[in-house]
Amino acid sequence: MIFAIESSCYETSAAVCKDGKILSNFIANQKVHEQYGGVVPELASRAHMQNIVPVVEAAFRQANVRPEEIDAVAFTQSPGLIGSLLVGSQFAKSMALALNKPLIAVHHMQAHVLSNLIAERKPSFPFLCLTVSGGHTQIVLASSPTELKVIGETLDDAAGEAFDKSAKLLGLPYPGGPLIDKYAKEGDPTRFAFAEPQIEGLDFSFSGLKTSILYFLQKEIKNDPEFVPKNLADLCASIQERIISILLKKFKKAALQTGIADLCIAGGVSANSGLRKAFTEMCEHNKWNVFIPPFEYCTDNAAMIAITAYYKYFQKDFSGLSVSASARAAWD
Ligand code: KG4
Ligand code: ZN
Repeated sequence: MIFAIESSCYETSAAVCKDGKILSNFIANQKVHEQYGGVVPELASRAHMQNIVPVVEAAFRQANVRPEEIDAVAFTQSPGLIGSLLVGSQFAKSMALALNKPLIAVHHMQAHVLSNLIAERKPSFPFLCLTVSGGHTQIVLASSPTELKVIGETLDDAAGEAFDKSAKLLGLPYPGGPLIDKYAKEGDPTRFAFAEPQIEGLDFSFSGLKTSILYFLQKEIKNDPEFVPKNLADLCASIQERIISILLKKFKKAALQTGIADLCIAGGVSANSGLRKAFTEMCEHNKWNVFIPPFEYCTDNAAMIAITAYYKYFQKDFSGLSVSASARAAWD
């Protein structure tokens, strides 16, 4: 039985997992950042401090488990906002000390990949995962739950950033990804064609797309100040279409290069309905097995930290109380 805390960005989350099954996954969100157009780190860490005790209590209550019953305490050690990570890591360390249980430090991006092992139907190893979040875009080759290798990643902006920055250019509030998804459903994805980067190998680039959207909008708004509100759905659909085509082109290349037929997506952007649909179609067309985590395990959550820790537990991959949170950390 693993108890886990996630606090790397602005979701405060706690989860309990027993024998690899999630018993509870409680998530508190922070609305305070919307008005600033992005996450304000200092406000995030303060809100984590207010949320952590009630969130931990709720996770135990929901799971109907007492703290003394758990076998280990897990937490997100990196990467993320350092103030936010410190709240979760200090709380987890204190719990491990008070309960005299092992402590398990988890890498947030590895946990996103392993969120695909939560559902009953799991990918077989080796599998490939396209992890698309607010801070990262990676193609990961998973040989086992504890052997994960990044074989492609973004050279500049992450896919989530591409969504959020495009949304900002359209005047939408933060985080704009879910709003682009919503408006895109009513729009024509072929109406506007935005630049497609030409990057070698399995790496990605999204900064050129952002610049091409900026120049395009500046030009159009000069002719018609109402251009964005008049064309919002088509703009969202066309932007989303381009981000998806950039992502899936490289993921397809990775599948063909490796010959691996179990393909997963993970991370906040994997909640995008257009990506889920296009990814499923691509896999069906090529006879690949498709795995997509349920919505609640796409964006940041402690269930994925718990499931990662569950596999680390068998390897006795425990940390001492001197372990510290880190904003950036090597993959291994
Ligand atoms: O994985 P995540 O919750 O946090 C990080 O680890 O970064 O990802 C957050 C990102 C944000 O950029 C957000 O806009 C994006 O995921 N996102 C979406 C959708 N839901 C969340 N992007 C597009 N469509 C969505 N439905
Ligand atoms: Zn994340």
